[in-house]
Amino acid sequence: MNMMRSLAALTFTVISSLSLLNLTHSATAQTKGGDQLYQPQVGQPGKDVVWVPTGDELVTKMLQTAKVGKDDLLYDLGAGDGKIAIAAGREFGARAIGIEYNPEMAALAQRNAERAGVADRVKIIRGDIFKEDFSKATVITMYLLPDLNLKLRPTLLKLKPGTRLVTNSFTMGDWEPDQVINSSGNTGYFWVVPAQVEGRWMLKGLEGHAVASLDLTQRYQRVGGTISLGSNPPQPLLGVDLNADELRFRYLDSANQLQNVRATIKGNRMDAELLGTYSNNRFDGMRQ
Ligand SMILES: C[S@@+](CC[C@H](N)C(=O)[O-])C[C@H]1O[C@@H](n2cnc3c(N)ncnc32)[C@H](O)[C@@H]1O
Repeated sequence: MNMMRSLAALTFTVISSLSLLNLTHSATAQTKGGDQLYQPQVGQPGKDVVWVPTGDELVTKMLQTAKVGKDDLLYDLGAGDGKIAIAAGREFGARAIGIEYNPEMAALAQRNAERAGVADRVKIIRGDIFKEDFSKATVITMYLLPDLNLKLRPTLLKLKPGTRLVTNSFTMGDWEPDQVINSSGNTGYFWVVPAQVEGRWMLKGLEGHAVASLDLTQRYQRVGGTISLGSNPPQPLLGVDLNADELRFRYLDSANQLQNVRATIKGNRMDAELLGTYSNNRFDGMRQ
């Protein structure tokens, strides 16, 4: 296990060093997060991953892509010197919490937040990202390792639909990103946590049908399925799009007219409407 971790750390260091070479900042500039009390070294070991700070330009692009704003609560998992949390507070007006395992690093990050004048809205917790609760986050940032992203993935997928995730460098396995961020040779990835919609939904009030249902299949944000209206055979949904808790699709109705649906998912219920119709356009669904 320790060998695996050292190997992972080595891989990370090699990848990060390569990308650092591409940065306009020098490695020395990257140690700037320190102060008289503590001077961390780029590549120093951490509990599950070494410390390498995200470059300034990518920090800005990651936060811009996630559209971070004053109503957000951002968590940086593995906060290092606190630079992402601090930028979220200082440049984007958000509240931010950094979780950092190394106590000296966590204390430094908190001092950095105070020096940046954002200590009223940026806090650094000394803790383990696999133990701390970050379920109230509206935005999560991470610069970890591929296997750590995968280990966190089940927890991340249970966050409130619409929570935005941004990583530096590493993906989430077969959960495709919604957007790829490029920044001077470095790459970031962006996802929106999708609502869980899979299953059979009984629909009430759709076009006056006493019996109507939806059968949805789901792979992360990709959704497909069929709709059954009365005794008609099920037919495929068209143009299905799931963004956070909003599900949109089209289907051909009994008169062969294309209908457009927008639904909001609320756990096992959905509130839906037929777009473009002027009366009796609302219906609802209940997951079986
Ligand atoms: C690659 S650095 C990223 C720092 C910062 N997020 C950034 O992008 O500039 C990863 C950080 O995670 C910390 N870390 C490693 N394992 C951790 C764990 N289990 N819980 C909390 N922090 C951890 C390391 O000490 C290091 O500071």
